[in-house]
Amino acid sequence: MNAGERAQYLRGEIERHNHAYYVLDAPTIPDAEYDKLFRELQAIETEQPQLLTPDSPTQRVGGQTLAGFVAVRHAVPMLSIRTETDTGPSGARAFDGRVRKLLELADDAPPVAYQAELKFDGLAINLRYEHGALVQAATRGDGETGEDVTQNIRTIHEIPLRLNGGAPAVLEVRGEVYMSRPDFERYNERQRLAGKATLVNPRNGAAGSIRQLDPKLAAERPLSFFAYGLGVVDGWPLPATHAAVLDALLAFGLPVCRERAIAHGPDELIAFHQRVLAGRNTLPFDIDGVVYKVNSLALQRQLGFVSREPRWAVAHKYPAEEALTTVEAIDVQVGRTGALTPVARLAPVFVGGVTVTNATLHNEDEVRRKDVRVGDTVVVRRAGDVIPEVVRVVPERRPILTAEFIMPKSCPACASAIERPAEEAIARCTAGLFCPAQRKQALLHFAARRAMDIEGLGDKLVEQLVDNGLVATPADIYKIGPERLAGLERMGMKSATNLLAAIARSRETTLARFIFSLGIRNVGETTARDLARHFGNLEALMAADMTMLQTVPDVGPIVASSVAGFFAEPHNREVIADLLAAGIAWPDERPPMTSTNSAVAGKTFVLTGTLADLPRDQAKALIEAQGGKVTGSVSKKTDFVVAGSEAGSKLDQAQQLGVKILDQNQLMELLKS
Ligand code: IVH
Repeated sequence: MNAGERAQYLRGEIERHNHAYYVLDAPTIPDAEYDKLFRELQAIETEQPQLLTPDSPTQRVGGQTLAGFVAVRHAVPMLSIRTETDTGPSGARAFDGRVRKLLELADDAPPVAYQAELKFDGLAINLRYEHGALVQAATRGDGETGEDVTQNIRTIHEIPLRLNGGAPAVLEVRGEVYMSRPDFERYNERQRLAGKATLVNPRNGAAGSIRQLDPKLAAERPLSFFAYGLGVVDGWPLPATHAAVLDALLAFGLPVCRERAIAHGPDELIAFHQRVLAGRNTLPFDIDGVVYKVNSLALQRQLGFVSREPRWAVAHKYPAEEALTTVEAIDVQVGRTGALTPVARLAPVFVGGVTVTNATLHNEDEVRRKDVRVGDTVVVRRAGDVIPEVVRVVPERRPILTAEFIMPKSCPACASAIERPAEEAIARCTAGLFCPAQRKQALLHFAARRAMDIEGLGDKLVEQLVDNGLVATPADIYKIGPERLAGLERMGMKSATNLLAAIARSRETTLARFIFSLGIRNVGETTARDLARHFGNLEALMAADMTMLQTVPDVGPIVASSVAGFFAEPHNREVIADLLAAGIAWPDERPPMTSTNSAVAGKTFVLTGTLADLPRDQAKALIEAQGGKVTGSVSKKTDFVVAGSEAGSKLDQAQQLGVKILDQNQLMELLKS
């Protein structure tokens, strides 16, 4: 394909996507992909201007008036903003450099003041107020002519129908209509429950509602608005700066985003860019970058425009969080607790700053709902540090012959039965540690850095050890000999020695790590630490019943039942005995809090009567585990008398001596505190 043919092809593609996006409100590809096509076409046309045609999509800024809406001509055109393609810090420097050069500022002239704002990801709107009343709202359209969407805009509660204070004769306010993320989630949830179509993303939610011909339908979709600029103004003396314009708009009663700042020179622009990027995921709405604007309106006028873009503003984008790729396979992974997770194997794609090759499909229902199939082109999303996920399929790119995904009927690793409780989304393999996949995950968890910390025992090695039958339980790790190990694939004598040393080192650990390493369901690092601190030793923990377990802070019935269930399993007890026999040990975990932190430590208790669900010897064990003392008779030295039903003379004595009396609940509270 030569450059002319390529340009022709790109024009066709871009027009098709434009139509889907602007007219049908059903985008076919992510913005980043579209931008890529657009930029490629721009590059060809710049390099070879003879290839530029008047009807090229680069010659207009997109959008076609829908038959149903009345066209509105913008007296002041609605411009677009130049995008700094370099998403790193040099983008801000390049912009500041251009501004300084155009203003002919000397190198030692003070830094230019900018207003830094967020770049909202919604739909640009022009609101026209006459003598304070909202008379018209229009979309941007192609920048010259938009559509009258006044009826739909009136449904947005945030947009005032009347302005506050001494409103000018004419005030056109420009800004972005958007859908907040919580509103988007709520709306989709409601649609799902009603079995109706859901929105693809908040931006399309906003665009779709505004360009909805039936205002009643538009009103059902919750939208918001941020003002960021002006159009026609009559009868209002303009302030000196853009920041002051925004403050004035706020005073008129219009919503203006608070996340904005004055930045002096490029370093402060870069700092703003980075601060916003770090907080991007905590914002309740989507942004795709930040916008820098020269703050002084006089300087803005001096800088002027080039084609449809002001020279005084620039958009500094963030790496796209969505990208397109194809599904090469759908595997079902078995997790440590037997949970089956469908995972899409993808053609490698760069998204959210990293190359992604796998994306989670969460569970069977999700795959069904999204109807993801092998061979599909999909949108993958990676926002922040979250696990990449498949957002949706691009149906028009589906190959002819594809098959619906079917969840296996038995465990893909061990062929055992799968169980999926009616009210749960997760299906699980029922084989426990007899399932090699679960066993491998359990071993990896056991050896993990935050657990027993066996350096070098990674997934490749665990795979071999289990498949060769060398290791079945964590205790077997301590029985491997150097010869067997060195005989494994990619394992020389040297790495075998290193691994054995790491295994030997791991014998010396802490009780908290040991508990965590057992992989008890619902017991993470923090809970393991709490359990270790509370019980002080493994025997006490293993002997604890549901009631005793629930005296541990933050341990409720679910965790307690996981723990009790785990230690009730004879197989687990055997493995633990084996591990201890292999020499795993930790310093006595007599908790430091017994002396200082616990309200029980150092206190003397007397127990009397029957406690409803705490046998007396257990109550005694709990008190002693926290450094308290239990004696048989009440004296002045007694700190607490714990009284159950049918308490006798000891209760009377306590009352006489003024000793504090606790019931079972108060004792539990004290033990938890
Ligand atoms: S100012 C003269 N400020 O970005 C500049 N635009 O390409 C006019 N946008 O679709 C626009 N956030 O709707 C401006 N803080 C912001 C913005 C913003 C988002 C959108 C705008 C337009 C596009 C400009």
